[in-house]
Amino acid sequence: MSNHPPQNLTVATTGASGAIFLRHFLQIVERDRRIQTVNFIASDSALRVLAEELGLRGRSNLISQILGSSIRASGGRSPRKIQLQSNDDIGANVASGSYPADAMVVIPCSVGTLARIAHGDASHLIERAADVSLKEKRPLVLCVRETPLNKIHIRNMYRAADAGATVFPLIPAFYYRPASLDQMAREFAYRVLAHLGLPQPPAFRWKG
Ligand SMILES: Cc1cc2nc3c(=O)[nH]c(=O)nc-3n(C[C@H](O)[C@H](O)[C@H](O)COP(=O)(O)O)c2cc1C
Repeated sequence: MSNHPPQNLTVATTGASGAIFLRHFLQIVERDRRIQTVNFIASDSALRVLAEELGLRGRSNLISQILGSSIRASGGRSPRKIQLQSNDDIGANVASGSYPADAMVVIPCSVGTLARIAHGDASHLIERAADVSLKEKRPLVLCVRETPLNKIHIRNMYRAADAGATVFPLIPAFYYRPASLDQMAREFAYRVLAHLGLPQPPAFRWKG
């Protein structure tokens, strides 16, 4: 990992459960002034889960819909830092190693997307950008969510980790006694960002 905090992040979301974790992750990223650029990609299945779990409707104003109340709190100003990229556009910026992306996070990451990344199937932008992250030795964090796990999932997590990805399962902590689902999702996002070299001051810290 380079010694400067990532300024250019790729964030992808897929059809696994846990849309609230994505919402808080994007809200924090949008506020963090160290991060200049975010390229955001959603798979078709992610749209289905976003509809089920957050009540979102379609792709129009997708980023504002995901950011939800935090964008309303900022006076409805549309987020400029976060750029939506089409998962079908394998010619988008993040499809090339020459584009200066610093790190990529897939949150939540379905076991289908995990399988495609682990096997180098780069036919859509999410998997291609992940493939590029691995070949360029850039941090790739996969917030995999499924339960229970079968041996295929476990083998694919091993393959991805062996190729350089961080498997960061979407498993929250409980020792800080979260008061709400929102706090749980926020603390999880803080942990992912700290892992990437972007520590978040409000994060809970265990003092022993
Ligand atoms: C409401 C809902 C919840 C789902 N939850 C999960 C999940 O937690 N993990 C998972 O791997 N797949 C889950 N799926 C299934 C995936 O969406 C499905 O396998 C899809 O093909 C994944 O596509 P993608 O990897 O291109 O996003 C869920 C589907 C729906 C509709």
